[in-house]
Formats: sequence, C-alpha cells, structure tokens
Amino acid sequence: MTTPAQIAHRHASIAPAALEHLQRLLGSWSLLADLSFSDLLLLVPLSADHETAGGPHLVVLGQMRPNNRPTLVEQDLVGLVVKESSWKLTAQALRSGSIIRGFVRLPSSRSVVPVEEVPVRFRGEVIAVIARISQAPSPEAASEYERAYLSVFDRLVGMVTQGAFPFPTEDVGAEETPRVGDGVVVIDASGDVEFASPNAMNAFHRLGVYSPPEGRSFVELGITSAVTRALESGRPVLEEVERRPDVVVLVQCIPLLSGDRVTGAMILLRDVTDVRKLDRLLLSKDAAIREVHHRVKNNLQTISSLLRLQGRRLAVGAGREALNEAERRVRSIALVHEILSREPGDQVPFDEIVESLVQMARDSVVSTHPVEITVHGSLGEVEADLATPLAVALAEILQNAVEHAFDERRVHDLATSGGGERRATMRLSRVGSVAVDLQQDEKALSVTVRDDGVGLPPGFDLRRSTSLGLSIVRDLVSSQLNGSIEMSNVPPAQGRGTLVRIEVPLRG
Ligand SMILES: Nc1ncnc2c1ncn2[C@@H]1O[C@H](COP(=O)(O)OP(=O)(O)OP(=O)(O)O)[C@@H](O)[C@H]1O
Ligand SMILES: [Mg+2]
Repeated sequence: MTTPAQIAHRHASIAPAALEHLQRLLGSWSLLADLSFSDLLLLVPLSADHETAGGPHLVVLGQMRPNNRPTLVEQDLVGLVVKESSWKLTAQALRSGSIIRGFVRLPSSRSVVPVEEVPVRFRGEVIAVIARISQAPSPEAASEYERAYLSVFDRLVGMVTQGAFPFPTEDVGAEETPRVGDGVVVIDASGDVEFASPNAMNAFHRLGVYSPPEGRSFVELGITSAVTRALESGRPVLEEVERRPDVVVLVQCIPLLSGDRVTGAMILLRDVTDVRKLDRLLLSKDAAIREVHHRVKNNLQTISSLLRLQGRRLAVGAGREALNEAERRVRSIALVHEILSREPGDQVPFDEIVESLVQMARDSVVSTHPVEITVHGSLGEVEADLATPLAVALAEILQNAVEHAFDERRVHDLATSGGGERRATMRLSRVGSVAVDLQQDEKALSVTVRDDGVGLPPGFDLRRSTSLGLSIVRDLVSSQLNGSIEMSNVPPAQGRGTLVRIEVPLRG
C-alpha cells in the first residue's frame, strides 16, 4: 500500500510541515466522513516539474468512506493523478480558497454525483482540497441526528478552511479514539448540551445518567474534566472516565472554533468497559504464566537443595561430585524459569541469564588458581524454548573452563609427559581469563567461550567424548537447538587455551 507520504514525495512538492498537517487530517478523516455521511477524497496539486501534457494535474492523497452510508466511490482512487481540467471544481476551490459546490462524474463511473470542494488551509495557504461526495439528505429532509451531524461537520469544515482543524498537537492513536458511531454529544459555548446521539445516551446510562441530557450542563454528566480542559485550552482532550462497578467510558472532546473563539464542542463517547475487561483478563493470563514459572523455579530449587544435602552426606569422591554436578545442572534450569517468572511473554532477556550463569561459575572456582570471567556482546531477547537448553549448555562450558583450563596438575602432567614444546614450557597466566562473547543477528545466535588455560587434552575429539558434561552439551545443541558446536585449541599464534563456539540458527 502506498502511504500519503510516498505519494506526496513522488508527485507533489509539499513542505514537511504541510504534509504533517495533511497526515493529521487523514488521521481524523473517518470522523469527517461519518459526520457528513460522505465519501471524502483529499487532493493536492502536482508539482510543476511533474506536470504532464494537458496542463496542471492533481493527485489523490487519501480516500475515506463513511461508516454510516453506502459508498458512492467504489474504486480505490488513492494515488490517482487527474487533470485539473477534468476536476474543475477542485481546481477552483484550490485557487479561490472558498468552498465550491457542484456535480462531478467520477472516474470510470457513469453517474454524476453532488460534490462539495473544501479548501484545506495551512499557515494561511491552501495546500489541498477535500472533495466531499455524497447524496446527503437536504437539511429539511434530514432527521434530527443527521441535521446535528451535518451542522457539526459544517463547523469543522469552517475550521479546515481556516487552518484550525486538524489541531496542531493532535497525536492521539487512531484506533483508540472513539468514532462517530460510538456516540456524539454537542455542547454550546456555555457548556449546555445541544444534542446527544442515541449511542451517546447509552454511554450516559452506563455512567449512571438517565434523564435526557439535552439542555443540561455537561457538568451534570460526569465528564467535567475532559470538557473543561478542552473548552479552556481550545485543544482536543482524550480521557477515560471510570464509574463503579467497572464501567469505563472513553471521552474525546473536540472544541469547535470560529476564529479564535470556542463556540462549543463535540464530545465523542465510547463505552470501553468490555475492552478494558479483556485487557485485564489478558494481564491476568500473563500473571498466571508467570506464577507457573515461579512455581517450577521453586520446585527445581528444592530439588537442587535436596541434591546438595544428599551430596554432603557422602564421603569426598566420585559419588559426591556427581550429586554436586547434578545440583548445578538443575540450578541452571531454575535460572531460566526465574527470569521467565519475572518477564511475561515467550522471549527471555538472555543476558540476565548469562550474568547469573557466570556468577554460578565464579562461585564454583575451587582451585587455588584465580579465574576472571568477562562477557562481551549481547544475545538480546531469546525465545523461551531456546533459552533453557542454551543456558544449560553454556553452564557446562563455563564450568569446564573453570574446572579444567587452569588445572595446575594438567600443566605439570604436560610438562613431564612432553606434550609438545609449547606446552612443556607453559606457565599459566597469574589470573586465568575466560571470555564469553555473545552475538545475535536475524539469522543466528552465536556464543563463544574462550579461555587462556592449558587447552584440550591431546587427542581430544568432541564427537567421541563420552564424559557426561559434553555429551549433554552435544545433545542439547544438536537436538534441541538444531545448532552446531565446535571445540578447538586456540591457535598458537593467538596464545593458548580452549575455544568453544555454539551457533544456533533462528527460525523464520
Ligand atoms: N576449557 C577446557 N580446557 C581444558 N580442557 C577441557 C576444557 N573443557 C573440556 N575439557 C576437557 O574435556 C573433558 C570432557 O569434559 P566434560 O565436561 O564432558 O567432562 P568433565 O568436565 O570431565 O565431567 P562432567 O561430566 O562433570 O562435566 C574434560 O575432562 C577436560 O579434559
Ligand atoms: Mg564438564
């Protein structure tokens, strides 16, 4: 779909501020279409350097159909370039700056329809024309509510031609603001209600006002604050009014101006009670999911404590170590659930998890050799179902680095068994360093862990390693993450140590 900005850029030479004015107009466009029961087109002149044969041209920047009438303009005309000579009334409004009424034949249509051409002024200059196409009933034949709508429309049109509508500050979200069909109230300059549409009456009933509001002051209607602010400031105000039990009505008050004078206001009302109820339900669904994660985390922490207690009862040795390892693994899964219990949604801020995993690894440094772990880069948000296996894998790799890379016994073994010249003369750096590097792009996540320790044992082959830690990592990476893992010695030219790299492709 082409946006007004794209069309304007391609065909017309409109100053940015003027284009913003037109975009704001298009933002309140459906209000105008509904109040006038008309199809609306917004046309701007084509810039001179785009002029083609046949004199000046216009381009259709926007089109809006009424919600309360069948449309008279079935084609999509947005982006259409037309000759001024065949849209004479539009051109006339553009040049004269006054409203022109007449009849037009629409492109690719045989019928002739009534049109009203409204010049749009901005900072004193006519920058566009609204072509209002309708078979609106004549004021005499119209019903009371139609007459009320048309009269507000005429006042707004007056503001458009004076450059006072759309309001310069209007930035309220289009889908949130009430529409004409939701309920309209018109008040005069003193604040007395002139007219209230049937749907507005319904909204008032919800607010606890039952007698007909016509003739009463808006103050009695319980929407005082929005209206007072709008009348005083001469600017539109959007506000939510809450009444017990659980009734929420969205109130938009649009002051009607004549010159600088506020001559009244149009109030749109929308009962959003059900919408807000749904919002609350969604919120509570989020809360329930968080609660589940919270409980899973608690249960995992209980399991991890049990393992720790059981480990302490064993004598130092393989059994005790195995229980400690199991305890640590459960704890790294609990970490992910802890974060999910704080953050709603199915994305987890993984950097927080990394922080906790790094802390866990630091805490488990038992050897006399100090180790420093640093983290660079970021993985940002990671899908929850990738986060758990990735966290467990990273925990294993970090654990390996602190456990094996700076093992003085291994240095000694290497020196005595002649593990190559480089290793025979190796000294560990005073403080071991482990660097975690995190990267994410649209296609993949990558996690690299590099240490400056002793390097992998001679003949090490990740695919054939049968020890538990790396078997877990291999399995998680290939079956749950669909990714790949590489482990290698740091090339001699770049120092020494071990390099582990996990790559996880991202879906779609
Ligand atoms: N960063 C590293 N530096 C040096 N050697 C390493 C490193 N990472 C792994 N290794 C070697 O790979 C071996 C296998 O690691 P793995 O994690 O599978 O088992 P583990 O750590 O010995 O036992 P666990 O099952 O408790 O993890 C280790 O015993 C160690 O010799
Ligand atoms: Mg290990």
